[in-house]
Formats: sequence, structure tokens, C-alpha cells
Amino acid sequence: MAEDFLPVKGYDHVEFYVGNAKQAAHFYDKTFGFKPVAKRGLETGSRDRASYVLRQGAVTFVLTSAYGPDTDVARHCALHGDGVRAIALSVGDVESAVRETKARGATVLKEATAEEDEQGTVITAEIKYAGDTVFRFVDRSNYRGPFAPGFIDIDAQGSNPVGFAAIDHIVTNVYLGEMNFWANWYSEVLGFTNLAHFTDKDISTEYSALMSKVMENGTGKCKFPINEPAEGKKRSQITEYLDYYYGSGVQHIAMNTANIYDTVAELRSRDIDFLRVPDTYYDMMRERIKGVDEDWARLQELGILVDQDDDGYLLQIFTHPVQDRPTLFYEVIQRHGSRGFGIGNFKALFVSLEEEQALRGNL
Ligand code: FE2
Repeated sequence: MAEDFLPVKGYDHVEFYVGNAKQAAHFYDKTFGFKPVAKRGLETGSRDRASYVLRQGAVTFVLTSAYGPDTDVARHCALHGDGVRAIALSVGDVESAVRETKARGATVLKEATAEEDEQGTVITAEIKYAGDTVFRFVDRSNYRGPFAPGFIDIDAQGSNPVGFAAIDHIVTNVYLGEMNFWANWYSEVLGFTNLAHFTDKDISTEYSALMSKVMENGTGKCKFPINEPAEGKKRSQITEYLDYYYGSGVQHIAMNTANIYDTVAELRSRDIDFLRVPDTYYDMMRERIKGVDEDWARLQELGILVDQDDDGYLLQIFTHPVQDRPTLFYEVIQRHGSRGFGIGNFKALFVSLEEEQALRGNL
């Protein structure tokens, strides 16, 4: 096998551009249980944007909003609404990451740049990805602070984690005909490999369909499914996303938990809404899934889904979109051996999704 020219250590963080980072930070803190650890803004000399850094387990989210209209942040929000701007990957050598990906066709938006303060140095760079989304390379191995130079620590009290341990995968929606382009981009520019491929035969309902390819990095730590809509009788959920996001972008972020029952029960108690599948789903699953020792009554009560493959099984559940536009949502996932994405659940889920889409007048 060829040498991995982009050795990725894992996800470093995800940065969102949002309309009101202060309020978004409160939401991620009080409902999803992320602890605010750092911020920047006018008081730290950041004149055009405010950012809040929140963390839970190995998951770091950065929420950024603009102080005025003439910034990339404001323009991003005006067009896309709240959404993911940057997927940041941790690498050992940012300069090499930029050089190697550029040589393979990456559009470099920011060359390797070092920022320094008394706590050390953080090096970052950015390359263009689908739509207005970027991949950011980060090396913070020589930094002792909570996030990066320019940010001050927040010692937040009262944050209450729900058990998110790490990011499992990040899914992008792209336009019809673009999935293969981006799959090739991951493969040629980032050196990732194709882990799975689902066609519209695998993922379709009476009304709509989608196709998906899953790309993963050399160490298997980062997984990026790419969805495109397929022709159906009615509007695909992917098309609905693209119509409201005004472009390609991140559809959902899946986070791992070691105890999905507790995580979901806690999130429900904090008013997070999840997609519901009909109770008949559980009758079907009790028949289909073999040798899985789980509390089926509790799974059903909480609305958690189950899927099984040759390697094992997984438990998963999906939130509703977390902003007014039917765009970004979250998945909570607990893996028991399976490295899949819940293909067996797609049909039941999409029927449920389409019911909600119809309620929005968008099917
Ligand atoms: Fe997923």
C-alpha cells in the first residue's frame, strides 16, 4: 500500500458560522452538554468576529458570529443560515499537509500560518471543500492553552455532559451528479479510501432516494459519507437540504457515546427532539436482529434504532434540524463492532423524514 501522504490524527474541531454565537453557545452548553472553555471577541481584540469554544469528551465545537455585515462570517450566515464552515483535522505537519494536497489539486485558501502566545504555537491552514465548506489542518502539539492564541479561557460552571465521547463521522450533502467528483477528490487530494457505497436501490422509499459513498482516512479515524439526491417521485430530503442551505454543505455530525440509553434519555429531558420511527419498526427488528442483548423495550421507548452487519451491530438516533432551516442535524451513535452507518435503518428513517418534510410543505 502507498505511503499515507496525509497522516490525520483525528478530528481537531468543527467551526460553525452562526447568527448569534452567544446564544448558540448557550444552546450547546445547556442542551447538548458542551462545556465552554475559551472565547474571543471585542474584549480580546477580535474586531470582526466573536467565537466560543465548547468541548465534551474529544469533541470540540467553535461557534463564530460576525460583528458586522462585511465579513465572510456574515455573508456565510446570510446565504446558508447557521452551519458548518470548517472541518478541522489534526495533523502532525501542517506545511506538509498543504504541500501534499495542493500538489494533488487542492485549492489552498490559507497557507500554513503559525499563531503564537505565551502558551505556545498553533499552526493552521485551509483548503476548499464542497460549497463554502473548508477543511482546516491543525497542529496544536506545541500549545498548552485551551484552544488557540487570541482566545481567553472561560471557566464555565454548571455544564453537564451527556456522554458525547468523540466525533464518529461527518456527512456532506452535494448536488445530483457531484458525489463521484467529491469521492474522487477525497481519494486523490486527501488520499482517503472508499469504505462503502450505497446506491438508490439501497436507499429509497416510495417517494425519494439518495446515493451515498463513505470515504475514510488511512487510519480509519475520520469518516466522511457524501450524499447526493437520486431521482424519485418527490423531492429528496437531500434536495430539501440543498434548497435551504443554498449549496452543498454538512448535513449531519455523528457523535459516539458509551451509553446511548443515558445520553438519549438525558437529551430528551433537555427537550432535544429526535426523529421517530413507527412502533412496527421494533416488531420488525426483534425478528431481524439476532444475538443482540439489548433492552428492546427501552430502545423503543427512547426511539433508538438498531442495525447489524457481519462485524457486529450499532445503536443510533437522529435529532431534528437544530436551526429553523431544515439543514444541519446530529446523530448519536454507539458502536458494538459494526463499522457501518445504519443502512438497514435508512428506509424506516426516510419514511419518517418524509412525513416531516410533508409537514413543512417540502415533499
Ligand atoms: Fe450518520
